[in-house]
Amino acid sequence: MNENIQNRYTFSIDLIKQAGSIALSYYLNRNELVIECKKGDKQDQVSMADKSVEAKIRQAIAEKFPEDGFLGEESGYSGLDSEFCWIVDPIDGTSPFLNGLHAWCISIAVLHKNEIVIGMVFDPLHNELFHAQLGGGAYLNDVPMHTVEPAESVQDGLVGLGMSHRVPPKTILPFIHQLLVDGGMYVRNGSGALSLAQVAAGRLLAYYEPHMNCWDCAAGMLLVREAGGTANNILENDGLLKGNFVLAAANQQVYQQLDLMRAM
Ligand code: IPD
Ligand code: CA
Ligand code: CA
Repeated sequence: MNENIQNRYTFSIDLIKQAGSIALSYYLNRNELVIECKKGDKQDQVSMADKSVEAKIRQAIAEKFPEDGFLGEESGYSGLDSEFCWIVDPIDGTSPFLNGLHAWCISIAVLHKNEIVIGMVFDPLHNELFHAQLGGGAYLNDVPMHTVEPAESVQDGLVGLGMSHRVPPKTILPFIHQLLVDGGMYVRNGSGALSLAQVAAGRLLAYYEPHMNCWDCAAGMLLVREAGGTANNILENDGLLKGNFVLAAANQQVYQQLDLMRAM
C-alpha cells in the first residue's frame, strides 16, 4: 500500500465521522435553518448545514495536507493539478435532510494522479461508514461488503434511480419504461452517494442517474468497484468539472443490460 494514500485513508475516516456529527446536530435542529435555492431551482436547496460542514472539512484537510487540491460542492475548487485531490459533498441528499427524511450522507473521495483511490460515504443516522481504498476491498464499518450475488438480470433486485433538473425528463423516462418492461423495479431515495454505497453493500442491485457531479458519486463509484461491481468512469470527458452519467451495477451482466436501456 502507498503510505501517502494510507495516511489519507486513516485521516479521512476520522474526518468524515466528525463531519457526520456536525451534520447530525444540524439535522436534529433543522427547523432553525434558513433555506436558499440554487440557480432559481426550488428543488435544489442549500443551507448553513451544507456550507459549514464543507468549511470544516476543507479547513481540516488544508491543515493536515496543505499541498493537496480540493473540489467541494459548496466552496468550489483549488489546486486540481496537485498529486492528491479531495472531492467533497458535505451533505448528499440535502432535500431529504431538510425535509426530515432519512437518506443523506457525507461523501469524501480522494484522487491520486486523476484516479479515485479512496471512497468514503458516512450515514450518521444509521452510524454506517462505507469505505474503500483502491485495491483494498470495500467495508461497511469493519465488515467486508459485496454487491448482490448472484444476479443475472434486473429482475434479481432493486435498481436505485436519481434525477435532477439539470437534465430534461426525456433522459430518464425511456430508461424507466424499459426497466419495467424487463421486469425490474426502481427506488429513488434522494441521495445518489448513499444509493451507490447501497449497491456496494448488496442492498441495491444497481444505480442509474443521467447526470451527476463528481462530488455526488466519486466515492460511491469506488465503493461499488471494490465491492465487486462495475461502474462507468465519472472522470471521462472532463467529468471532474462537468459531471457525467452514472451507472453502477452488481456485476458486468446487469451493467450491460442497464447500459442498453440507457442508450434508448
Ligand atoms: C443530489 C442527490 C440526488 C441526485 C442529484 C444530486 P445533493 O445531491 O445526490 O440524489 O439525484 O443529482 O445533485 O444536492 O443532495 O447534494
Ligand atoms: Ca450531492
Ligand atoms: Ca450536496
